[in-house]
Amino acid sequence: MRHEGESHMSMSAPKNFWYVAAFAADVGRDLLARTILGRQLVIFRTEEGKVAILADRCPHRAVPLSLGTLIGDTIRCTYHGMQIAADGSCSRIPCQDLIPGKARADTFPAIERDKLIWVWMGDPALADPAAVPDFHWFDSPEWTACTGYHHIAANYQLLNDNLLDLSHESYVHEDTIGNDAVAEAPVSASVKDGKVYVSREINNCEPPPFYVKTTGFKTNINRWHTTIFQPPSFNVIENGSYPADGNRGQALERRILNMITPETETSSHYFWGVARAFLHEDAALTAYIQEQIYRTFDQDKVLLEAQQHNLGAETDAPFPVALRTDAGPIQARKLVRQIVEQEQQMEQMEAAGVK
Ligand code: FES
Ligand SMILES: [Fe+2]
Repeated sequence: MRHEGESHMSMSAPKNFWYVAAFAADVGRDLLARTILGRQLVIFRTEEGKVAILADRCPHRAVPLSLGTLIGDTIRCTYHGMQIAADGSCSRIPCQDLIPGKARADTFPAIERDKLIWVWMGDPALADPAAVPDFHWFDSPEWTACTGYHHIAANYQLLNDNLLDLSHESYVHEDTIGNDAVAEAPVSASVKDGKVYVSREINNCEPPPFYVKTTGFKTNINRWHTTIFQPPSFNVIENGSYPADGNRGQALERRILNMITPETETSSHYFWGVARAFLHEDAALTAYIQEQIYRTFDQDKVLLEAQQHNLGAETDAPFPVALRTDAGPIQARKLVRQIVEQEQQMEQMEAAGVK
């Protein structure tokens, strides 16, 4: 079902999924404006602490509600003072008792889980809370996580490609997490239960600078990373390392958590986190990891935006030259394309009145 007043902007991203709208800590009693899947939204918490997500558009004359003022649980529009409640209904119009039926803002299902705020942009009838992707690492005593956010002026699938082919660490991130050994290591890619798995074992390699500082391993290490892609835009990287002359039981493990939310066809919200299963109490280490990963993803941002600039509207075109390392990205794109096509068929049937 299409929302009333929904943008007709064409998006290559599937709609019937939960996407991250914000880190839970960033949503409070201020009005947060954010565009997701081409729709402008306003996000806030009610006085009880419940998250409300509405179309950021006053039903009167289309001024963004996020420019207004939160009074109790209603937004007072900054232009003519109409008040819109958390459920989208209009609760007050100055000097007028009659509230027209159309004086209503669209609302979107929201869930707070794993310290994240999730939003459902598709058919509200299909919004199943059980379908929220698992990111328990943010809220588990066994893991210590830092988080960050990058706005990337690139299509979300270019970020998926990036995370599913980590050979780029050798060239883009050689001063932080990468070195020559990464790109040279053999890679395997497979699809299982609707997810793509891309794995690399990098044995007996020099530890890159970030590894020396965060693990204390100064001599050669064995390291591995497996990117697990869950459509349409979630990538969990399992990563661990241990001394090459030791054994896997000594491994220090991390999870690099990547939650990408399409903003427009050519821009994305990149929410990320790094969770570690060691040295939980070391706050300086947490700050160091966060600072280094900001720097690392700043490097990705530069090249992804330049890549988007060159690709223009061709972000979903077949790769003109497919390398062995493209197997993961190509499999992921195939899964996403199937989902988008299914959604388009459903919408066409709905438009034709077929139930
Ligand atoms: S535009 Fe919001 S009250 Fe007029
Ligand atoms: Fe990168």
